[in-house]
Amino acid sequence: GMAESDLEERLKKLEELNKVIQECKKCDLYKSRKQAVLGEGNPEAKLMFIGEAPGGDEDKLGRPFVGRAGKLLTRLIEATGHKREEFYITNICKCRPPENRTPTPWEMEACFPYLKQQLEIIQPKVLCLLGSTAARAFLNRHVAITKERGSVINWEGKLVYLTYHPAYVLRNPNAETTLFEDIKKAIELAY
Ligand code: URA
Repeated sequence: GMAESDLEERLKKLEELNKVIQECKKCDLYKSRKQAVLGEGNPEAKLMFIGEAPGGDEDKLGRPFVGRAGKLLTRLIEATGHKREEFYITNICKCRPPENRTPTPWEMEACFPYLKQQLEIIQPKVLCLLGSTAARAFLNRHVAITKERGSVINWEGKLVYLTYHPAYVLRNPNAETTLFEDIKKAIELAY
């Protein structure tokens, strides 16, 4: 029969991956989460935004970046003239840590293969890492984000762009312009 389109193939693989993570017990976060949050957006995105882990709203709704920090991220993306749906949005950890604590190194390591599968399926050109925790998961070292934001790093042939987490901007409103400029830069790198 007719070969399935590449888009349909990607959607099917992401759906399969979603089923896998809903059953995942590799770390202990499954015990307290409501549901795992795979991510959402364009399966053919050139740019992927990667945060830390779902928070309370994300855990409840099953979608990434839909709470206060997510609304800020969405507003800044749309202020560039682009739509959130044009990109893919996910997290290092697919499950919410209790009381929104920072995921442990083991929790991030255990979950990283799922992100790698998403990268294989979606094949983005640019990864925009939101905050020091996501940066640390990729670079395997401590990252001082105020010093290193704006850096472009080559990671396994992809361009990795480091910036603030939108939750940091909620606590430090003066950083909003910088996050906005960084998002614009990440989009420029992708096209
Ligand atoms: N913070 C994150 O890092 N990810 C989300 O999905 C929401 C808030």
